[in-house]
Amino acid sequence: MREDIEKVYQEALKGIENASSLDQLSKLRIRYLGRKGVLTGLLRSISSLPPEERPEMGRVANQAKKSLEKAFQTALERLEKEASLRTEAIDVTLPGRPIALGRLHPITQITREVCEIFLRLGFDIVEGPEVETDFYNFEALNMPKDHPARDMQATFYISENTLLRTHTSPIQVRTMERESPPVCIIAPGKVYRVDSDISHTPMFHQVEGLMVDRNVCFRDLKWVLTTFVHQIFDEATSLRFRPSFFPFTEPSVEVDIRCVICRGDGCRVCSHTGWLEILGAGMVDPAVFEKVGYDPDTYTGFAFGMGIERIAMLKYGIEDIRKFYENDILFLNQF
Ligand code: DAH
Repeated sequence: MREDIEKVYQEALKGIENASSLDQLSKLRIRYLGRKGVLTGLLRSISSLPPEERPEMGRVANQAKKSLEKAFQTALERLEKEASLRTEAIDVTLPGRPIALGRLHPITQITREVCEIFLRLGFDIVEGPEVETDFYNFEALNMPKDHPARDMQATFYISENTLLRTHTSPIQVRTMERESPPVCIIAPGKVYRVDSDISHTPMFHQVEGLMVDRNVCFRDLKWVLTTFVHQIFDEATSLRFRPSFFPFTEPSVEVDIRCVICRGDGCRVCSHTGWLEILGAGMVDPAVFEKVGYDPDTYTGFAFGMGIERIAMLKYGIEDIRKFYENDILFLNQF
């Protein structure tokens, strides 16, 4: 019996000291000290020895069990330390992690492209607040409180008379209040409407244009817009001016371009008309001049407003406007 205990003890000790993983160690513990373990079995069989041998064997077996437990504890600490060193180790020879270079959002790119074209034509760039008053957003643009044209521009109100601007047109009014003619500006920026579907997001971007001086006429508007379209799309893109209505211009037009996808044959994007609407424009209504203190008998002017997302979608062939605002890196990386 004594030899059996000694043999098991030596065998177990060797195993413990050579254990190279926590998993291996725990298997050894079960094998020797578990409920059905080898040493446990020996301890149990002491009861079948002659009574006079029992105390001595009990002492030997318990001694062996105790020192094995101690050896297990030591091995456990050793292996845990090794494992933590492994995970904390820093390999200084590894190459550094590359920092991904960012890029401009496609809407920012198109806004800049539009601005550059107008800068070359002699326009200045101005900006205005996104939180506007009812006066600048509607009233001064000839849209009094119950005017039906307001229905198309439901927006987010901060208070009864303060709102998120629905278009960049209030910047026309702010500029004319501040400066006397000649005025020749464009105004890019964010605008807001209660609208959300495949071609509308609650926030989108517009560029407003305004030119006021003596003798500015509709011909000037046509030339500026035609030049702009030829530069942002290409020289082969033809334009169509359709009569329309805006409270702040008279006459008013909507401007279409020949479908950039099908070149006029008719396709899904142009709803089989061959034409795409890209902006609203017109000659500044004398009522607006009166609001800002310009003499309508001396000055005339034209104005226009276009959606940046719309231009970007047509230029890049994007069908869903919401793509711009999903922050999908695979989408954004294409521009
Ligand atoms: N503000 C108009 C809109 O958002 C667009 C517009 C039309 C702007 C005619 C103009 C203009 O300056 O003359 O629907």
